Amino acid sequence: MEPVLVTGAAGGRQGSTGRHLTAQLLGRGIPVRALVHTDDGRATVLRALGAQVVVGDLRDIAVTRAAVAGVRGIYFTYPVIDGLVDAAGALAVAAREAGVRRVVSVSQLAAGAEALTPRMRQHYVAEQILDWADVGAVHLRAAVFHENLALIADTGGGAALSLPMGPAQTELPLVAATDVARVAAALLADPELAAEPVLLLTGDVMTIGDAARTLGRTYRDADPHAWHQWALEFYGSAHAADHLTKLWEIFRLLGEGTGLYQVTPSIEKYGGHPPITLGEFAIHRPAH
Ligand SMILES: NC(=O)c1ccc[n+]([C@@H]2O[C@H](COP(=O)([O-])OP(=O)(O)OC[C@H]3O[C@@H](n4cnc5c(N)ncnc54)[C@H](OP(=O)(O)O)[C@@H]3O)[C@@H](O)[C@H]2O)c1
Repeated sequence: MEPVLVTGAAGGRQGSTGRHLTAQLLGRGIPVRALVHTDDGRATVLRALGAQVVVGDLRDIAVTRAAVAGVRGIYFTYPVIDGLVDAAGALAVAAREAGVRRVVSVSQLAAGAEALTPRMRQHYVAEQILDWADVGAVHLRAAVFHENLALIADTGGGAALSLPMGPAQTELPLVAATDVARVAAALLADPELAAEPVLLLTGDVMTIGDAARTLGRTYRDADPHAWHQWALEFYGSAHAADHLTKLWEIFRLLGEGTGLYQVTPSIEKYGGHPPITLGEFAIHRPAH
């Protein structure tokens, strides 16, 4: 059987969607070519699981060309740093040349040409590039990953979850990165499985106060400037710090009772079970 190419396969600080997907596909008996950026211990684990590991920079057409040869489908993810559109372009060209018929890409819930952060607008451009390439692109527009929130909750001594989101009643949409991977696994296991080109993935909706409590923390409203400074150091990326500070501000401005967010049907439809709530995620996550 031809392999599925999984990018971001080593996983990182956002949700490790590629790592979860690699394990899920291998668990279903589907061979995986795992593209990693860095050949380190994470790549060793992938090899031990049975993945064929290739190393390279997704923004390099020479890398993507070699990586897509003979694959049955591709999972595209790129971290919250500069370079998303470059990477989408290099992948789209290579996939089109190779005649790939399904690419599943991870995007953001509010991606759009008029979206409020540069990252969200870049996601929209990346979606368009993949659509033009005519490679059967399906864009998974995901809410905030449980894993992302939990990582922030695990910093700062562990008592408070500090975010510049205003009152504790501010709402946010959430999804487990493992559920994003599960939807991708279904679409890549069967490239003929019918799907709309954009799937919205929200698995839980709650207030930030309840989310903090669910993660064993007390929510604390942070000063946006101070949080941005903290994020610059924590993520080591102005791109990530700028995007996330603006994202929390958007939620803060929208406030409570917006009615804007709801659990979406695609997770259960493609993933095979109801979404993992933040509460379920919190119970099962490793000790922290
Ligand atoms: N975080 C959220 O709450 C959230 C919500 C919705 C959507 N999203 C979207 O989800 C995506 C990120 O998800 P994720 O869970 O896959 O990210 P992740 O956990 O941060 O993993 C990213 C992976 O990409 C690799 N990588 C970095 N630079 C690369 C390059 N130039 N070429 C090839 N690989 C590279 C990293 O490897 P190294 O570590 O070795 O560099 C890492 O393994 C982003 O597009 C983001 O906008 C995030």
